[in-house]
Amino acid sequence: MIIAVDGPAASGKGTIARALAAHYRLPHLDTGLLYRAVGVAVARAGGDADDEDAAERACNFPDALMDDPELRGAEAGSLASRVARHPRVRAALLARQQAFARQPGGAVLDGRDIGTVIAPDADAKLFVTANIEARTDRRYRELLGKGDRVDREELREDLVRRDERDSSRDAAPLLQSATAGLIDTSDLSVDQAIAAAIAMVERQRISD
Ligand code: DC
Repeated sequence: MIIAVDGPAASGKGTIARALAAHYRLPHLDTGLLYRAVGVAVARAGGDADDEDAAERACNFPDALMDDPELRGAEAGSLASRVARHPRVRAALLARQQAFARQPGGAVLDGRDIGTVIAPDADAKLFVTANIEARTDRRYRELLGKGDRVDREELREDLVRRDERDSSRDAAPLLQSATAGLIDTSDLSVDQAIAAAIAMVERQRISD
């Protein structure tokens, strides 16, 4: 069974994807980490994330970079959103994501274009969203918990900018697949969001 989970930053899609993977005992890939790795690799090489040639070269990043804590930070998220606009970067990361999705037994993948581009034939597709205030609060608490000093207003503006960039790009923009089930986590606890996600996966796989 392939489960596709898409949605904007800090919507709760990562938490939901990890919980679904545990529930169905499937391997999980956070595809945002691939774009974060490319963004950080470009920066470390002294390149410009907006330069498609430099970003494409950075797609050969070493596997070990995927475990680097720097990938989880706000700066890596912003670099990721910039390299993710380049069609050649998306093409370079496509095979890796599709190979993960098609492994025997299935997988859970979360990102922006899983249900639309990477695995349009997924057995279940979720689009996870939340209003901007809920997402800002969540990201704020998460970064504070890690000891990062952050300005809430700056964080909110960064999320708005990232939504705009991810939704308006030509190559695989963030959009809800017509066949994806919508989960708005704004007013849900983590447990409620996970329960809603499992119920939706069950409905979709039965109706297949
Ligand atoms: O989910 P995240 O915040 O780690 O993603 C970082 C950036 O990577 C996001 O702003 C857009 C890009 N991304 C993408 O374009 N396609 C994906 N499947 C996953 C992430």
